[in-house]
Amino acid sequence: MRRRAKRLIVWSFVLAVPAAVVVTAVVQLSSRFAYPFWQDKLLFHVPLMVVPVAAVWLFSVPRLWLLLLDMKKKEAEGDVEAEAALRRQAGAVGLAFPYAMSALGSLTALYYAFVSPVPFRWMADLPPLGVLAVALLLVWLGLHGRLRRFVPKPAWLRWLRGLGVTAVVAGIAWGLVYLGLEQSRLPGTVDMMSGSPDYGGGAVNVHHHGGGQASAVSVTTLTGSLTGTPDRRVELTAEKKTVQLPDGASKEVWAYNGQVPGPELRFKEGELVEVTLVNRNIEEGVTVHWHGLDVPNAEDGVAGATQDAVMPGKSFTYRFRPAQVGTFWYHSHQDSKEAVQHGLFGLLVVEPKTAAFGTAGSIDMPVMVYEAPSLNASVVSGSAGLQRVTAAPGTQVRLRLINTQDWRRVSFALVGVPYRVEAIDGTALHEPGLLTDTRLTVTTGGRYDIAFEMPSHPVYLNTDGKRSQGLLLSPDGSGAAPELPVLSDFDPLHYGTPAPTPFGSDSKFDREFTMILDNRFGFYNGAFGSLYTINGRIFPDTPIFMVREGELVKTTIVNRGFVDHPMHLHGHHMLVLSRNGVPAAGTPLLSDTLDVLPGDTYEVAFRADNPGIWMDHCHNLTHAAAGMSMHLMYEGVTTPFAVGADTGNHPE
Ligand code: C2O
Ligand code: CU
Repeated sequence: MRRRAKRLIVWSFVLAVPAAVVVTAVVQLSSRFAYPFWQDKLLFHVPLMVVPVAAVWLFSVPRLWLLLLDMKKKEAEGDVEAEAALRRQAGAVGLAFPYAMSALGSLTALYYAFVSPVPFRWMADLPPLGVLAVALLLVWLGLHGRLRRFVPKPAWLRWLRGLGVTAVVAGIAWGLVYLGLEQSRLPGTVDMMSGSPDYGGGAVNVHHHGGGQASAVSVTTLTGSLTGTPDRRVELTAEKKTVQLPDGASKEVWAYNGQVPGPELRFKEGELVEVTLVNRNIEEGVTVHWHGLDVPNAEDGVAGATQDAVMPGKSFTYRFRPAQVGTFWYHSHQDSKEAVQHGLFGLLVVEPKTAAFGTAGSIDMPVMVYEAPSLNASVVSGSAGLQRVTAAPGTQVRLRLINTQDWRRVSFALVGVPYRVEAIDGTALHEPGLLTDTRLTVTTGGRYDIAFEMPSHPVYLNTDGKRSQGLLLSPDGSGAAPELPVLSDFDPLHYGTPAPTPFGSDSKFDREFTMILDNRFGFYNGAFGSLYTINGRIFPDTPIFMVREGELVKTTIVNRGFVDHPMHLHGHHMLVLSRNGVPAAGTPLLSDTLDVLPGDTYEVAFRADNPGIWMDHCHNLTHAAAGMSMHLMYEGVTTPFAVGADTGNHPE
């Protein structure tokens, strides 16, 4: 018994360690990060771990100490009768209970480490606390019982009881897993208007149906009312075909107009464009989404939100007037993860109404980094190796850097000439300065336009630090890739100079939303795995941000997780106000695919000036396909479309 008492005292020290770690973590985190990053630790982990340890030290340890002293005394006196009294003392509830609290509290805290309770969701986050309370009550009652009838039980009885308890616990656990898997199965039909509408300030759990409103307007009518003869007509035919891989194997690709990437589309600002999409044989269905182009809602190409997926033999016509000048891309927004991986994407450039970029003889070159299904590799402008370009000295060069890969940021470094970043996400920057020895990191779905004047020596555009690939521009088309200098990272929030914007940090916002990005373990569509969540939820339970036309909207995006999330809002561009509390200091930065890194908090704002139902999702398409997707919805807008297995629409 003495050995056990001593062991318990040692344990009291051991238990204090994790509690101290948690407290230190909260102190550390709170000095460097915003509240959402350590809220759970303060509200859940600290009480769950510190209170029991305090109880251990306040109640158990003094009792143990006395017990040890008593034992020594009785032993010295040779009092053998004392054994029973000592045992009773040792079995006191006040002695054992704090240890049970500690163990169960830590277990509960461990649960909350994997299933983060930020933001707190009653239905999901309260039950574990209830389980803890019940378990503690049972332990308490058990200890009381033990004290009352302290008769040592035969070993077989204890074994049997242990076995029984284990069986019950295992049964309950199995039941919970089964329920979790079943409940996570996606319904066959998900209405875009079901979910948790968030009117700014937090999601309320009422089902909102815009359909009941008198002024309801369907997305199908939000076409921009573009009549007349198109200035430009394009036909995109989507089809599956089989290509030969370099290693001799064959592979199926999905292509627009038979090519991967699809044809390069170049439109003029303001012209009326008409694109007819025809699906020849892709049973999964296709659409075209104009990534970064703020077109009218009905033309946005999102299956299940703005149209039905176009099935084999069917077609769909998009009409819009591109209002933004810059670099964009297009891709199918039906099964977009699969579609883009298989090749349904291409470059889209909108040129200014007057003269194209630069003068005659200038070079305007897209540098698209993508996963080439036909090469089974990630390539830069179609080639996995070094590409040579002939450029006469004095030539104006614009390189449009585009990253269409899934969950892979690409870093670019231009060596040999000072250059400017002229545009980000299809929006020109204000007074961009000259850069050298700088690393530009372009996130999934993002675009950077860089420009320079060709010198009389070679210029090298490196990607991802690999000298075996990239673009080598030289006056005679020859030369070797130079060594890379030491590079510093480009920060778009501190580049160029400020310019007036229609609104800013000190504007009065009509709506303020919070978007907390995180990861946790859980169930999704009948499987268990790592989940990427928005406000603790996955589609279709993610919030719906509700706005009215004309409102000024601010969103705070917080990444509490371990991986980056390029957040892509359709139909609008977000003006970046601040990052981690530091106001954006340079050029106004309008982003459509904002790379939110772990630990980062961004404040962004946009004017709700494009009515409709708009996707807002992570452009790591793997994440989006796993439910990291939500909507921005204008009040009163409805859609006749729906997503889910029964509808044939799977936007992600
Ligand atoms: Cu480029 Cu919603 O996607
Ligand atoms: Cu993501």
